[in-house]
Formats: sequence, C-alpha cells, structure tokens
Amino acid sequence: MTSTANKRETTVIPDEGTSNVDPATRLYPPEYEGHLGSLLISHEEIDSRVQELAQCIHEDYKGTRPVMLCTLKGACPFYQHLLDALQDLKQGYTMEFLRASSYVGAATSGNVTLLGSELNKEDLENRHVILVEDIVDTGTTLANLLPLLQKFELKSLEVCTMLEKRLGDDKTPAAKAKYAGFSIPNKFVLGFGLDYNELYRDLKDIWVISQAGIDFDAKSLV
Ligand code: XMP
Ligand code: MG
Repeated sequence: MTSTANKRETTVIPDEGTSNVDPATRLYPPEYEGHLGSLLISHEEIDSRVQELAQCIHEDYKGTRPVMLCTLKGACPFYQHLLDALQDLKQGYTMEFLRASSYVGAATSGNVTLLGSELNKEDLENRHVILVEDIVDTGTTLANLLPLLQKFELKSLEVCTMLEKRLGDDKTPAAKAKYAGFSIPNKFVLGFGLDYNELYRDLKDIWVISQAGIDFDAKSLV
C-alpha cells in the first residue's frame, strides 16, 4: 500500500499566496482583460491535486460504485476532471446532478434551494454518494443540502470539494468536506467553474477578481 498521508492533506494556499506560475502565460478570453486580479491556482496545480483526490476516493471506495453527485453549475469542470482521474484508476461510478443556489453576486444569501432537482430515490437509495462541490465557503449550502440528501436513505454520504475557504476570526464553517483540494484565503475567487454573475466559469485557472471585474456590467457581453 502506498503512503496516504500527503494526499489526504488539503493543500493550503497562504493568505497572500499567489501561484508560482507567470500570469502572462495564462489563456483567457480577451473580454476579461483587466478583470482578473491575482492568479491563485494554476490549471496544472488543480490537475495534480485532482489526481491525488481521485487516489483517496479510489482507496476508500474500491470494490464499490459510488454515485458521483455534481452540484451545478460551479463544480462541473472539477467534476469532469475528477471523473477522468477515477477512470484512469479503473474506479467505477454512476453520475447524478443537482442544482443548488445560495449566492447573489458576491454575497451569500444564506437561502439554499434545490432548483429543478432530477434526483430519483431509486438512483440513490442504499448507495454510497459523494457530493462534488466547487467551494465550501461559510458551509451554509452544505449544511442545508446534506439533510435533504440523507432523506434518500443513502448507504453513506461524503463531500469532495475543490476549494474550501478560510473564514478567519476563528469562524468555523457550518459543514466540512471529507475530501478538499485547496484551502484558500477569504477572498472572492473565480474561474474553473466559479462565476461572478455568470462570467468567468470559462477560465482554465482560478483567480482573485479585480475591482474592474466587480464593477463590470456582465449584460454588456452577448
Ligand atoms: P457557502 O457559503 O454556502 O457557499 O458555503 C457555497 C456556494 O457559494 C458560492 N461561492 C462562491 N462562488 N467565488 C465564487 O464564484 C467564491 O469565492 C465563492 N464563495 C462561495 C459557490 O457556488 C458555492 O457552492
Ligand atoms: Mg457550489
């Protein structure tokens, strides 16, 4: 058995941390020029951490077929990469999707709703479920979502998140993920699925938004 210690530890991005990668080498649509503050996590760093998370999941779920439950829309790119890594490990799974909403602009509303859920009891009952999230911030979304999912009488339920935010001031999140890719500073981030008013999901890397990005009128783009 290979060592499991390091890959089970969430990678910590320090408070003033930026990626070692030169931002000038990054690819992004030209309409985003000036909107991206600092480069927080490069695509390459995400990719290698995703491999580690997949290894952890494979070690824990070998011989079973977990339901990989993707929270739309933000977790989509992470989900796709994670499933790809699981395939390389010959780890079987089934796929389900849900849509939860809790954010308006850059402020959490604290109100979590399941939008147009297509979850069926027969697809989840008595199954090991891994909820795949883009980011756990205050944990409010998770804390509201987990009891809704438990109603499906699952065999087990764990959470795999790409990012978890450090809240500061000794605040603790309302819920935590078993598998977490990166612990990030308490800043609003975007890219690789994460949006600000539906923009920036189409970035390969994860960035901190700039003031120009916050001020930009998303409706001016068609
Ligand atoms: P909570 O606070 O409930 O938030 O844990 C979870 C959901 O809020 C969104 N979120 C963000 N989206 N940049 C984003 O683009 C952020 O920094 C951020 N923080 C929270 C996200 O949808 C997440 O699932
Ligand atoms: Mg989310």
